[in-house]
Amino acid sequence: MSIKVLLGVSGGIAAYKAAELVRRLREEGAQVRVVMTTAALSFITPLTLQALSGNAVRSDLLDPRAEAGMDHIELARWADLVLVAPATADLMARLAAGLADDLLTTLVLATTAPLVLAPAMNHRMWLHPATRENLARLQKRGVRVLGPAQGDQACGEWGPGRMLEPTEILDVLPLRVSSDLAGKRVMVTAGPTREALDPVRYIGNRSSGRMGYALASSLAARGAELVLVSGPSALSAPHGVDLVRVETALEMEAAVMERIGDCDLFVAAAAVSDYRPRDRAGEKIKKDRTELDLHLVKNPDILARVAALPEGPFTVGFAAETERLEEHALDKLEKKGLNMIAANLVGGRTGGFERNDNALLVLWSGGRKSLPLMSKTRLADALTDVVVERYLAYLSSQDS
Ligand code: CTP
Repeated sequence: MSIKVLLGVSGGIAAYKAAELVRRLREEGAQVRVVMTTAALSFITPLTLQALSGNAVRSDLLDPRAEAGMDHIELARWADLVLVAPATADLMARLAAGLADDLLTTLVLATTAPLVLAPAMNHRMWLHPATRENLARLQKRGVRVLGPAQGDQACGEWGPGRMLEPTEILDVLPLRVSSDLAGKRVMVTAGPTREALDPVRYIGNRSSGRMGYALASSLAARGAELVLVSGPSALSAPHGVDLVRVETALEMEAAVMERIGDCDLFVAAAAVSDYRPRDRAGEKIKKDRTELDLHLVKNPDILARVAALPEGPFTVGFAAETERLEEHALDKLEKKGLNMIAANLVGGRTGGFERNDNALLVLWSGGRKSLPLMSKTRLADALTDVVVERYLAYLSSQDS
């Protein structure tokens, strides 16, 4: 189902990018309604955004004619996502303070939809302590902030404050919603694990958590109740997701097993360390030896444990391979007793760790689907489509 995006445009020179943003959102199948602040009207005409969005553009809270159609509360309810691009320093300050002094700020207060901001302003304004404080307050409330980018600014200066390009914004927005998974509980694992060697050092890996967080967000957008068990990651909890933070593989295993009982679907996207140091030094290890042997012991395979549960959830695993992708992935599918596996090639020039894009080969007993290279957010949406389709087919096969 297409997502309903309420695009808020505030008054900065980057407002001209809103036109392309609307066009691209429509191309992705989104329904778009635009709300502009009074200041935005000085930078771009409502007519342009009306023509591109196919809907009347609103800017006035107290417009009797507009309120006679879809009033502002209805508009706030209509949105699946509120995106403000550009978000000026002034708008961020008003949102942080919880003001409702125009249509856009009123809508933000009245909606329960996730809020995403793409800031744009002079770099000194962006770095000003007042803006930093407002940003921190908004992020603490779960507002997602995209950018700004560094670069040449319209004022002739250089620094952070340039609004992201519409394509960069689109790459990271979940754009599909449905209620296919309403009433279902889904658990996703994400990120790396850290296995301590001493109080300051650990064995870890380069997983950023991006794929798992994007998947959690896509699955939540299909109506599922989401638990995300994550190793250390710089990412913040996606909207509507219950985030459980852990550090080690053993902690991840405990967090998963404690909560898996009432889950219908389990997606293991975490890059769990296969081994951990047998002993953790109580004090920092000193460099007084020329050689140091580490004794490692195997970590439990969380995914295999969940897949082996009697009456366990529908399980989806990942496989990262450097060669013979399909053969190795099918082997894991079978050995671990999974319902599905999403495999990707790593170590080459295509996606993988620490990248924004990836490609996947999804395999299940009797079927396969290849998902080409795309941003991890788009890929999460595409993988969620396949997972939901296979899961619903599995449920109906159980019924018959
Ligand atoms: N996994 C897990 N617990 C572990 C190890 C892996 O839950 N201790 C999950 C991962 O989240 C992922 C899948 O299992 O879904 C990866 O399987 P794994 O056998 O670890 O793949 P590789 O690490 O690629 O294995 P190998 O090094 O043997 O190829």
